[in-house]
This record gives sequence, structure tokens and C-alpha cells, in this order.
Amino acid sequence: MSRLKVFVTRQLPASLDRLRQIADVEIWPERLPPSYELLLEKVRKVDGLLCLLTDRLDCQAISQASALKVISQMAVGFDNIDIAAATARNIPVGNTPGVLTEATADFTWALLMAAARRVVEGDRFTRAGEWRTWEPDLLLGPNVAGATLGIVGLGRIGQAVARRAKGFDMRVVYVSKHRKPDTERSLDVEFATLAEVLQESDFVTLHTPLTEDTIRLISEPQFQLMKPSAILINTARGPIVDPNALYRALSTGQIAAAALDVTDPEPIDRQSPLLHLQNLIVTPHIGSASRQTREKMALMAIANLVAGLTGERLPNCVNPEVYR
Ligand code: DGY
Repeated sequence: MSRLKVFVTRQLPASLDRLRQIADVEIWPERLPPSYELLLEKVRKVDGLLCLLTDRLDCQAISQASALKVISQMAVGFDNIDIAAATARNIPVGNTPGVLTEATADFTWALLMAAARRVVEGDRFTRAGEWRTWEPDLLLGPNVAGATLGIVGLGRIGQAVARRAKGFDMRVVYVSKHRKPDTERSLDVEFATLAEVLQESDFVTLHTPLTEDTIRLISEPQFQLMKPSAILINTARGPIVDPNALYRALSTGQIAAAALDVTDPEPIDRQSPLLHLQNLIVTPHIGSASRQTREKMALMAIANLVAGLTGERLPNCVNPEVYR
């Protein structure tokens, strides 16, 4: 019997020995992702695919993957994969929930604090030789402690962000697809509509997955509801925020500042007018990038892949309907 074949779309921060015991493994060696055409060519030939959020697995790619038994994504989000197409072909899709919750919540707070207290501007100011003396009104920002935090999407990461907010004595309001009365009690958070969250919050942080309902969730009308002193944080997915509306909101003072770890497109265009704004921080999608977390994500993705190749149920499957 011929050996199983696997394509891994990037070098991973974990050992692939377990995978190599059961399959021939080809790893894409380059820093940038394989092109869509190359991905199509690979998926036509393999039994298993381990991919990242930068790999587009649309209906066309999945329909050509005649031998594919499993798709394992090293991320919790899977908006790059056509799940309906995979389910129609009975291909289980794995993801890596849970292990990146704390790291992503930490990073959300890093951005929130940096934007509020103007850490990046302060660093630029110092390096530019502008620091001459202590000044009473230099780089002022708002208080974080005691402020109101609005969380859009109270899943695992949203809840971890809310827990941290309690250490800052913040009032936390949230909006989520489903109301969570138990969590409201245990974390002392208040349910509200999206409009109320936007109107009442000093900081708004986004933690929803990217779906048809959340694409451009934050656009012109939503910015109009926000306080002029508000700060927006996005560590979820870039397309949730309309970049043109964000530019207008930041450049006209409709909101005070924003910090994005995710953009639309990714990477952000180097010519984007957003990059000229001093009141915007942009980081390169590194919310989950602690060493320990990335290793756990890779191990989880490998475990899903091995399970799919050996006919076991995936430990973390986003389309469990394939098992019915
Ligand atoms: C995810 O897992 O979806 C993040 O965006 C990357 O860690």
C-alpha cells in the first residue's frame, strides 16, 4: 500500500516526527505562502493538508482535492476555508481553539495600553531626538483604570480580555451573538446592543469571528456612534472594520485612536493612508505570537491532521457534521 501524502504550507515551530511516522511530508520551505496555483496543484495530490490562515482554500481548491481526507488549520479562525465545500465532500476541518486565548488577550491589552498611553508615539518621539525636558502636557492620553470597556464578541478571547479588565476596575459592556447570563454574573459584565456598546465605551475591542454577519461590522455609521475620545482595538480579523471609514474616523477626530493587529488586506498596503496617521498603531497579526502558544498551536494542528489521516475523529473539528 502506498504511503499517505501530506503537504504542510509552512515550517512549523514543533516537531513533525509523529506525522512522518504515518505519512510522507512535504513542507513549503519559503517565508511567503505558496501561491494559490501551487496550492491547487498540491491539494490535488495529497491525503492531508496542514495550512495557515494565509492559504485560500475555496470551493475550487476543495473540489479538486480528490484524495484529501483532512484539512488541519494552525489557527482558531478558519475564514480562509470554505467549510461548506469541505463538509459537502465529507472532509473534516481542524482548528486550534483554546491554546491561544490568553496570549491573544494579553496582546489585546498590550495594544489597548499602547494606544491609550501613546507608547509607540513616545518611542518615535524619543528616537527623533524630540525629548528635551519633562513637559506637563506631553503625549497625554486617557485613564485606562476605571474606564468603560466595550467587548464585541464574548467568546473565549473576549472573556479573557474581560477578566483582565477587572484588574483595572473597568466597567465592561459586551455584545455577542448569544447572550451569556452565567458569564455576565461570573465576570461582572453587562449585555448591551452594539449601538449601546459603541456609545458608552471608552475602549472598544473586537473579538468576533469573520462571517457574513461581521464583515464591515464597524463602518461609518458605527464610528458615528462612538465617543470622540474612544479607542478601537482589533485583534480579530481585518475585514470586520471598514478601512476607509476608519481612516475618516481617525483623521477627522471622530474617534481618538485605534490599534490594529489585523488589517484588510493583510499585509496592509504600504501606500495605505492609514499608515500616515499618528493615532494608529498597526502590528503584523501577532496576537497569538508567544513561543509557547505557537508551539501548542502547531502540535494541535499536527494532532488534528494525524487523527484525520488515521480515520479518527479530529480532537478539534469545526464541521463535526461530517461524522453524522
Ligand atoms: C487565529 O488563530 O485565528 C489567529 O488569528 C492567529 O493566531
